[in-house]
Amino acid sequence: MSGTYRMTVVEDAAAVASVAADEIVDAIAEAIAARGTCSLTLAGGSSPKATYRLLAEADIDWSRVHIYFGDERCVPPEHPESNFGMAHAALLAHVPLPEANVHRVEAERKDPETAAEEYDRALPDSLDILLLGMGEDAHTASIFPGNEAVHESSRRVELVVGPKPPPRRLTLTPAVITAARHVIVLTAGASKADALHDAIHNDHDPVRWPIQLARHGHFIVDRAAASRVA
Ligand code: 6PG
Repeated sequence: MSGTYRMTVVEDAAAVASVAADEIVDAIAEAIAARGTCSLTLAGGSSPKATYRLLAEADIDWSRVHIYFGDERCVPPEHPESNFGMAHAALLAHVPLPEANVHRVEAERKDPETAAEEYDRALPDSLDILLLGMGEDAHTASIFPGNEAVHESSRRVELVVGPKPPPRRLTLTPAVITAARHVIVLTAGASKADALHDAIHNDHDPVRWPIQLARHGHFIVDRAAASRVA
């Protein structure tokens, strides 16, 4: 994978969370110092939970932080598969964030296309910090391998139907990921080893390996996920 990415290999998932949380705390402070505010975009799935729990205990000026989401499943926020629900339980419910600073993707609406257009308008020109996970197929956010339409999109938020249930999701598009200032990829577990190997050791082909869109980011991975990355 070409690009300016960095990779830090740590012992286990707990170490991924600890290293990531420390970096995010520093990056938030840097964004606030530079621009008076910080846009922090959260990843979904399960890997980031431990990081979010550590952030809930960290010394952060939450009044200056705006929260966004890299993708959201088309389910209500209280649904067990909601990325907002996961982040709310692990972090958002425990920190003094002004309600107006949490920009939830209303993907549960009957017309998710309109929700996508509205979310597009709510996004800043570029995101200060973008957290991403990676699936076993090298997907990231809800950009799945082979989805050429999302790569060709001029929009910043798109409705997709993917192979990972729940299938219908709203996702940030590649343009938003590549424009983000500080990208951190959180990946742990042996199940991710093949995808990480393939993404790192193949030429740039983000339609096939969407995680390559983070090739300017910092990959924080555990030994199990990095086991095939020489
Ligand atoms: C989602 C996520 C997705 C996730 C990966 C890894 O909504 O599912 O945005 O991109 O980060 O699938 O998921 P795990 O962290 O659960 O392995």
